[in-house]
Amino acid sequence: AQHQADIAAAEAPNAEALEAFRIQYLGTKGLVKTLMGEMKNVPNEQKREFGQILNAFKLAAEERFETLKAALESNTEFSFDYDISLPGDPLPLGSRHPISMVRNRIVDIFKRLGFAVAEGPEIEDDWHNFGALNLPEDHPARDMQDTFYISQDPAWLLRTHTSNVQIREMEKGKLPIRLIMPGKVYRNETISARAHCFFHQVEGLYVAENVSFADLKQTLYFFVKEMFGQDVKVRFRPSYFPFTEPSAEMDISCLICGGKGCNVCKHTGWVEILGCGMVHPNVLQNCGIDPNKYTGFAFGMGIERITMLKYQVKDLRLFSENDVRFLRQFTGA
Ligand code: PHE
Repeated sequence: AQHQADIAAAEAPNAEALEAFRIQYLGTKGLVKTLMGEMKNVPNEQKREFGQILNAFKLAAEERFETLKAALESNTEFSFDYDISLPGDPLPLGSRHPISMVRNRIVDIFKRLGFAVAEGPEIEDDWHNFGALNLPEDHPARDMQDTFYISQDPAWLLRTHTSNVQIREMEKGKLPIRLIMPGKVYRNETISARAHCFFHQVEGLYVAENVSFADLKQTLYFFVKEMFGQDVKVRFRPSYFPFTEPSAEMDISCLICGGKGCNVCKHTGWVEILGCGMVHPNVLQNCGIDPNKYTGFAFGMGIERITMLKYQVKDLRLFSENDVRFLRQFTGA
């Protein structure tokens, strides 16, 4: 019992004391071994009791040793002399990706007009990317967007535009619809300063009673002024999309060269930033919406293009190279 108490009271303020403890109790000539040697002198009828006590003692000694060792080790960690007056290491702060910043900005502007946000799948079936958008199989306009196919029959593909989300939302059958739909899109295009095989779009859709082309134009005018300021010039050109009729493309005056000519505006002074139009009656019908009761407008814009104009970025590839020298320039923007 005295030995037990000694063990419990033992302290090991340093490595030497710990080692001394180990030698005293657990070493080859230590107390545990010595007492075990005594076993042969113990009368047979007491051997059992002696053995139990001795075993408990041995366990207690081992346990105490481990405890002291652990305490000593954790002590050592904190035994450095810290100079708490030294200045700390600055934590490097990241910056948001310019595409994310501009996407958020676009979404915020449309939110103020009452648009809600929706998203859809990037891996899509033929119907939602093409068929329902009034592009039947073999329609020549399918070639406008070079598609990455994942499988042929049934056809699964990487969506070529965010217009698939229009379809998925209209299918839900809840009207009116006023949505802004950001996302990634994929096209099998040769990578250059102006084109990439993957980029970002924001789709817009408004379907209700009495929606007109004038509503579309005013909405987009508002967007451009909020995004680029009051001075930027806007023009609409007639265009063609199978899913809108009439269709248009919207250009803004080139903010990179101020109209003097550069590779972003192909030396025309104008840059196309979006396609738009009135939702084709066939598309409404494909989604179970009565085109005699409802009309709608839709538009789709490329976020990269808008970001290039906003921040004077001349090469699209910079957005996906993750060069911190580029990305760092947007800290605090
Ligand atoms: N989906 C078209 C594109 O990617 C853009 C668009 C969207 C045009 C909606 C009209 C209406 O080019």
